Amino acid sequence: MIDRLRRRLLTACAAGVALAQARFALPQQAPKRLRLAATRQALVGTGNPDTDVWSYNGTVPGPELRFRQGERLRVEVQNSLPVETTVHWHGLRLPNAMDGVPGVTQPPIAAKGGRFTYEFDLPDAGTYWYHPHLGNPEQVSRGLYGALIVEEREPPAADRDVVWVLSDWELDREARLDEEFANPMAASHDGRIGNTVTVNGAVPESFAVRAGERIRLRLVNASSARIYGLAFEGHAPALIAFDGQPVAPHPAARVVLGPGMRADLMLDCTAQPGSRHRVVDGFYRRNAYELLKLQYRDEAPLRRSFPPVPALGMNPVARPELANAVRQRIVFGGGAMGAMPRQAEHKGMFWTVNGKPVAEHAHEVLMNLKLGSSYVLELVNETSWYHPIHLHGHVFRILPGDRWGDTVLLEPKSRAEIAFVADNPGDWMLHCHILEHQATGMMALVRVG
Ligand code: C2O
Ligand code: CU
Repeated sequence: MIDRLRRRLLTACAAGVALAQARFALPQQAPKRLRLAATRQALVGTGNPDTDVWSYNGTVPGPELRFRQGERLRVEVQNSLPVETTVHWHGLRLPNAMDGVPGVTQPPIAAKGGRFTYEFDLPDAGTYWYHPHLGNPEQVSRGLYGALIVEEREPPAADRDVVWVLSDWELDREARLDEEFANPMAASHDGRIGNTVTVNGAVPESFAVRAGERIRLRLVNASSARIYGLAFEGHAPALIAFDGQPVAPHPAARVVLGPGMRADLMLDCTAQPGSRHRVVDGFYRRNAYELLKLQYRDEAPLRRSFPPVPALGMNPVARPELANAVRQRIVFGGGAMGAMPRQAEHKGMFWTVNGKPVAEHAHEVLMNLKLGSSYVLELVNETSWYHPIHLHGHVFRILPGDRWGDTVLLEPKSRAEIAFVADNPGDWMLHCHILEHQATGMMALVRVG
């Protein structure tokens, strides 16, 4: 364990500067339990009241669970909330029974004392996360989410490995959470976009760095609806993985993350001691804001030149055979300014998949896939809105490039193709990860078997 958690040092670089010192808190040992309860947290910080939240083990985000590739995860969940729940392990290729979808893969974990143990192997390294999977966005919007990190067997050298769990909240002046989680106006437009953004459960002002350090920065978008477009002023972080899956390292001028999506960056701190640099979220152009400042300490630089950013090894994901793949088309429709389902028949449902809104408990199978076959799904977005479309239990390739992931962000009036081998038997969700859209029709079930 100690060995696993030991800070991994950069190998001596060209300038021959001494190696990094272990000056930051080590990641916590992975807890074996997650206990859900209502708690309070200082989201907004100094001088503001605490906010009532729901949390895992008393904090938002929940504990950072860290494992190493090839290990077996075992987590006992105990639910002390007044509502039922489940835990979904987003992005992982796991057995269907461990996927945490109530009524599909397991009965919900009962309110006030229900328990369930999740146990499965971790074949893929990467940045993942966990959250409840009930149709209503309430549980995630109250703070139930956490990062799940699967470290590579040979992680790339970095002075620090840091996770930023991004989320947003709709708060009033007393820092009380707006409890209208199913507002039809939000659900039929771009979802509930909160007025307060937090990083790791608090409104951040600055993030302290040292000149010359290399930080592996893992970003997780745990917001129910907000899309982020982050730019690191004065820096050129290298994108090394997206949705947990390695990419050829390349500088990312802007990192765009839809709900549910993750990015791994190597952030080389190349600026001067004592300097400050903004990290700006400009996804919604008219509402760009400063997320936080990178604040350089006054210490002398740790090193003056950086070795090249190494590429991560691919995960053992089967490559789909594109030539023989079965092609299917899935059309996402509805929403404001679109062909919404008739409210007389489908009250409160605003979105459709292949023409039909799917209610949370419908569990109708949209497509049957043959175990072991390759598929290309053409995802067509006929709506005027963004949709991060997520498939459970599989990792897909986004065509025509060679980027892999579990969520693809569809722009308004656009289409995308994803290809994968249907090699994981079971009933898997395919849905929009804007949770207000998912709850109002934009989801489906795909059966592999
Ligand atoms: Cu992040 Cu269906 O979930
Ligand atoms: Cu959507």
